[in-house]
Amino acid sequence: MLIFHEIAPLRAQRAEWQRAGLRVALVPTMGALHAGHLSLIDQAQDCCDRVVVSLFVNPLQFGPNEDFDRYPRTFDQDCQQLEARAVHGLFAPSEQAIYPDGREGHTRVHVPGLSEMLCGCSRPGFFEGVATVVTKLFNIVQPDVAVFGAKDFQQLVVIRRLVKDLNLPIEILAGPTVREADGLAMSSRNAYLSTEQRALAPQLQQQLQAAAQAVQQGASLAAVEAEAEAQLSTAGLRPDYVRVRRAADLAAPRPDDESLVILAAAYLGSTRLIDNCCFNTKR
Ligand code: PAF
Repeated sequence: MLIFHEIAPLRAQRAEWQRAGLRVALVPTMGALHAGHLSLIDQAQDCCDRVVVSLFVNPLQFGPNEDFDRYPRTFDQDCQQLEARAVHGLFAPSEQAIYPDGREGHTRVHVPGLSEMLCGCSRPGFFEGVATVVTKLFNIVQPDVAVFGAKDFQQLVVIRRLVKDLNLPIEILAGPTVREADGLAMSSRNAYLSTEQRALAPQLQQQLQAAAQAVQQGASLAAVEAEAEAQLSTAGLRPDYVRVRRAADLAAPRPDDESLVILAAAYLGSTRLIDNCCFNTKR
């Protein structure tokens, strides 16, 4: 596997692949790789000739009181997993390589509306940080395809929107959420959970499935959201939000919309978990 810490040699390699007519996929990550990331890599390999994984814990998407400093950094294990997957290139830049003049006055990419709702309410600046770094990664790697996990559903919708609005010639693929045997969505942040919290965590997906079923049976969206939040609280989680939205654009559903998603964020101690459940009102 080729490992790039700087932009110029990666660009040179990209140009060589371009000359050889090879299709290139990018899988952006913040490292601490788990089976969810590996499934995105498999998906990228299925549709492209060369796969580049980026590994960068992006400071721009963390709030001042968030977990940037303690975010798991497992570079050596990540490299082993990528080697085993026969990934062609790893782009693991330093902060200096990505933000050479500092973060303060750096140009930002902001996707209005989508960035302020749901997770954007309790994590102001998060989606701007994501949109900015992902746009930079797209410009650096110039992939034909980029693969993102559907677990971060709002992030996926934000990225699809920025690709459309900025006319970027990149196909965005969504990788299905990979779950533990008890239904908990895999996430690098699951490592923060204590044994007791880990036992409660699958409640998040269970409540979302129950809520989706209630919507299919005709319950009002507001009642379903309130009930799911109440059930999460009873189970020992601290819900941030539970909302039913249109899957395509996260707008409030109209009566005739069929493809919906129920999204939630909830805390276990200081760990914030997110998950979602896509469903069709007609089943
Ligand atoms: O989902 C993530 O891991 C990050 O938000 C991403 C897309 C790599 C941008 O830093």
